[in-house]
Amino acid sequence: ISLENQNLLDASGWVTKLYHHLLRYTKDGKEGYQYFHDRGITDDTIDVFQLGFAPNVKDFTAEFLQKKGFHQQILVKAGLLSLNEDNTITDRFRGRVMFPIRNHLGKTIAFGGRTISDQEPKYLNSPESDLFQKGRILYNFDLAKKHIRKQSEAVLFEGYMDVISAYQAGVKNAVATLGTSLTESQARLLRRYVDTVIICYDADKPGTDAAYKAAGMLQKAGCEVKIGNMREDMDPDDFIKEFGAEAFQHQVIKSSLTFTSFYMRYLKKNYNLSLEGDRIHYIEKLLEHLATIESSVEREYYLKEVSDSYNVSMDSLIQEIQANREKMA
Ligand code: CTP
Ligand code: MN
Ligand code: MN
Ligand code: MN
Ligand code: MN
Repeated sequence: ISLENQNLLDASGWVTKLYHHLLRYTKDGKEGYQYFHDRGITDDTIDVFQLGFAPNVKDFTAEFLQKKGFHQQILVKAGLLSLNEDNTITDRFRGRVMFPIRNHLGKTIAFGGRTISDQEPKYLNSPESDLFQKGRILYNFDLAKKHIRKQSEAVLFEGYMDVISAYQAGVKNAVATLGTSLTESQARLLRRYVDTVIICYDADKPGTDAAYKAAGMLQKAGCEVKIGNMREDMDPDDFIKEFGAEAFQHQVIKSSLTFTSFYMRYLKKNYNLSLEGDRIHYIEKLLEHLATIESSVEREYYLKEVSDSYNVSMDSLIQEIQANREKMA
């Protein structure tokens, strides 16, 4: 590790402690503490994730780090300070609750800062650097790793708060992609530790689209994929807050859908099934997917569902599937 990167790590470490201390024990961080408290996050959880608060002061962090002897240039590079157009340097994160992003060894390499008013953007993240490449890390992997390995299963979320709420609800094999789509490198990382990944993204349009893509990546990497049984238009954190930990574990995680069940629902959204033509196209498209399933028992299981739902004979479905399979071969 280069001297510069070591400096970056040291500065990020100090700032993690600073923001966390402010939030937990001082008047300057009280708004942040109140914010998490209102979202149902306990003191223990705040400590585990080293959650913090960056005060709404333009040079709070700059002064703190300068006293510690860091060069401003490095801090700008680390994304802790911003270089403004008029060449002044100010704190990058102001008036935000702070989520340290840790590498797989537990060291802070970046931050996500969430507004507690209505500032845009909702989340401000550190820029990418030598140490922080969004597509190469999974949020919370360091803490989740031993649980992931033990259960040979990981639960994959979109956001910081989803992971933190899940963890607090007892789902400790929780990691997140931080909003961006899952990369091949992240899929391979997971594959090294698990057989199964449960994708538990937000149940809105962007979330289900992203889940569909992530599922493909994970299957390609050799993982078995399931999809959390989320309620329409909720995210996992909303669900836990509304229905509690027990319900989340049973109704969402333990009731995960197979990829095919998810796909059947997902695909439906692109068609207007009250129209006969759409219905036929939907079934044809679905059969293309079902044809890729190796197990004939599994294939028939879903075919039966299609047959019952759309009143098409099993014979013709099986015929169509065979045709599809021959095309594939
Ligand atoms: N994200 C981001 N920048 C944004 C919006 C989102 O980096 N402007 C990332 C964050 O990691 C966020 C994740 O995408 O956690 C999921 O986004 P979203 O569902 O919008 O946020 P939530 O995690 O649900 O945030 P909250 O519950 O605090 O509103
Ligand atoms: Mn409390
Ligand atoms: Mn979302
Ligand atoms: Mn969300
Ligand atoms: Mn949310």
